[in-house]
Amino acid sequence: MPQLLKWPIPALLIWGGAWVIYLNVSGLLPELWAMALACAVAAAFSVMGRTPARRWALVLGFPVSLWLSGAAVFPAWGWLIPLGLALLIYPVHAWHDAPIFPTPLNALRDLSQAAPLPSGAMLLDAGCGLGDGLRALRVAYPQAQFCGIEFSWPLRFMAALRCPWARIWHGDIWQEDWSGYDLVYLFQRPETMPHAVDKARENMKPGAWLVSLEFEATELVPTAVVKASADRPVWLYQAPFKLAPLSPAPFKSSTRHPQSDPSR
Ligand SMILES: C[S@@+](CC[C@H](N)C(=O)[O-])C[C@H]1O[C@@H](n2cnc3c(N)ncnc32)[C@H](O)[C@@H]1O
Repeated sequence: MPQLLKWPIPALLIWGGAWVIYLNVSGLLPELWAMALACAVAAAFSVMGRTPARRWALVLGFPVSLWLSGAAVFPAWGWLIPLGLALLIYPVHAWHDAPIFPTPLNALRDLSQAAPLPSGAMLLDAGCGLGDGLRALRVAYPQAQFCGIEFSWPLRFMAALRCPWARIWHGDIWQEDWSGYDLVYLFQRPETMPHAVDKARENMKPGAWLVSLEFEATELVPTAVVKASADRPVWLYQAPFKLAPLSPAPFKSSTRHPQSDPSR
């Protein structure tokens, strides 16, 4: 759904939906509860926004329009409701890594050819969001066992609902032990990768795979690179990891595709 609807259609649907909820329940519940419920639904669906600015627009659109319309007395502290809900879904702690952005279902379908795993292998989606990465991993490895760690409580619960076959818990990916996994999947951001490399080198067992959608771990030599789509690589690194040689000349790009670099 997030890929199918073009902006601003998600915004119009979510704001409209929040208004419908508010108008329908305000006769049944105290005014403030009706507002909070409509804000909660808008905040939950804000994960459809593809950028942080859009997600904030989705969270705040309904309370702002309610306030501007004068349809309800909106107390000053009432703004804490949408802000609190947004912080619950997008905890500040996770801002250093990546906000919610899902892996497309078929993005990892070729993974098992490059990184074959035995049936029953343990896979971890580190920062599993709504569970889309787990679903994509299951397409590639239908016989595996799946775990997901997520820092946002609402996302962790939604992922558990969407992936009942996986074990999903609330936690910080950097505090968890990665040594029991045969494959750790990341879809974070470029800035997260050096930290992930340190953690993987310290923690992952020989033969295990570190897999990153889109973002390269430039400190390591990839074991393989497969395509998630025409312009989106999936980087695979197998432990024991091979360190990439330090770039000898500062003017050389460090983001060059490793397979086209004869020096590696
Ligand atoms: C880009 S989303 C990817 C979601 C999922 N892996 C997928 O591919 O569909 C990144 C997720 O990582 C979570 N996250 C970021 N930092 C985290 C941390 N330190 N511990 C746990 N989860 C984290 C975010 O809350 C977000 O849901």
